[in-house]
Amino acid sequence: MTERSLVLVKPDGFERGLVGEVLRRIEAKGYTLVALQILTPDRDRLAKHYAEHEGKPFYDSLLEFMSSGPVAAVAIEGVRCIEGFRSLAGSTDPTKAPPGSIRGDLGRDWGQGSTQNIVHGSDSPESAARELAIWFPELSD
Ligand code: RTP
Ligand code: MG
Repeated sequence: MTERSLVLVKPDGFERGLVGEVLRRIEAKGYTLVALQILTPDRDRLAKHYAEHEGKPFYDSLLEFMSSGPVAAVAIEGVRCIEGFRSLAGSTDPTKAPPGSIRGDLGRDWGQGSTQNIVHGSDSPESAARELAIWFPELSD
């Protein structure tokens, strides 16, 4: 079934000029770009986005990192694109993420307080709907 997912190119990826490379991989996989916005997210938006992680040891540094500069927020569409983009991204820790994945090919451990891993992708249909409403409310109308 065709579905939508939220992808973020995080501040580390944006700063390194990897937005085009991430979009290239999404398009090469066959997913469609539905909406794209460059913005520096404020803490309110990030607190909503990362509500599930509130109270965890990395939460404060994660919000600090994610609000440190511009991100590219992208709504993508395609059959099973939620699962498919998670596969393109690779596992959370870029040191362990498999070669061939975005995090495995382009990421590394920078020794910062919260893991810097270039991209975010929604992890379920429920997360995708919730996150798309936060980043692209106009798509829900
Ligand atoms: P994301 O939500 O960003 O797509 O990543 P994910 O599902 O692979 O990982 P998740 O467990 O949801 O964690 C969200 C983000 O928090 C940072 N993190 N740092 N121990 C740490 O230093 C740590 N753990 C998580 C990462 O940026 C991770 O992607
Ligand atoms: Mg996650």
